[in-house]
Amino acid sequence: MSEATETVRYPAVVLVTGAAGGMGAGHARALAARGVHVCAADVADTGPVVAEIRAAGGSASGHALDVTDPAAWARVVEEIHAARGELGGLVNNAGISRRLDFLDTPDDVWELVLRINLFGPFYGMKAVAGLMRDSGGGSIVNISSISGQIGYFSPAYSSSKWGLTGLSKSAAGNFAKWGIRVNSVHPGLVDTPLLDGADAFVESAVASIPAGRTARPEEVTDVVLHLLSDRSTYMTGSEVTVDGGLVSNGLYHRITADSGGASSGR
Ligand SMILES: NC(=O)c1ccc[n+]([C@@H]2O[C@H](COP(=O)([O-])OP(=O)(O)OC[C@H]3O[C@@H](n4cnc5c(N)ncnc54)[C@H](O)[C@@H]3O)[C@@H](O)[C@H]2O)c1
Repeated sequence: MSEATETVRYPAVVLVTGAAGGMGAGHARALAARGVHVCAADVADTGPVVAEIRAAGGSASGHALDVTDPAAWARVVEEIHAARGELGGLVNNAGISRRLDFLDTPDDVWELVLRINLFGPFYGMKAVAGLMRDSGGGSIVNISSISGQIGYFSPAYSSSKWGLTGLSKSAAGNFAKWGIRVNSVHPGLVDTPLLDGADAFVESAVASIPAGRTARPEEVTDVVLHLLSDRSTYMTGSEVTVDGGLVSNGLYHRITADSGGASSGR
């Protein structure tokens, strides 16, 4: 029997925001390892990630980008057009979290979180759509969160991620005619610097996660890769939850743990 050989295809050029660190850097490294030219964009310095990718034999360029600035988006897309001539993927990964109760959320924090987590992907999709259309289509992956699927105590973060869930579906409908797919990814708790300083929160949350642990960043990267690849050509407007079962089963997982075991048989 002959061995099955499967080739997964990716776009030639993919733009990743928030690529200087955390999961964005992981997505960038993984894409480059698969032969993709990665446009690594961030407000922070992308130099180290780009150098690391090049040292490993990959192809990458660094782009200074504050996702809240539409003019900066236009400049970055022009840089990509001039240097590569095409763009087949965008990962709207840049995001911030401010874990604050409703009444403790100052107006400026509310505005900042929405500007980065929701306005950013809106400006980004607007900026790349023309080049992606002219490149023959593509795939946009918006990194939302389970906070964009359930009630979450921190209103700015939750609203920004719920907004991104809806924005993704709206864009999926708008861009389908150009062969551009748009999906949202909803990680639960992932072990990155975003969780720094939240040890008690994380420890308590893990008790509700059926998988019994936080996610490794690579487990989210695998889903991003899938959505960018030709293995997901019929997926658009989808929400992909990557949370170790927290949203679907967290409540009963916690209840059964607190009551000292699984079902009593009734
Ligand atoms: N870590 C988690 O548990 C978790 C869970 C669910 C969703 N997410 C989401 O995943 C994404 C990545 O999170 P992470 O954990 O890797 O975070 P991180 O803090 O490690 O990295 C975020 C990156 O975004 C960049 N960034 C921040 N503001 C920016 C701006 N205005 N313009 C451009 N870049 C900017 C930062 O410089 C940083 O490199 C975020 O959208 C986050 O909301 C994270």
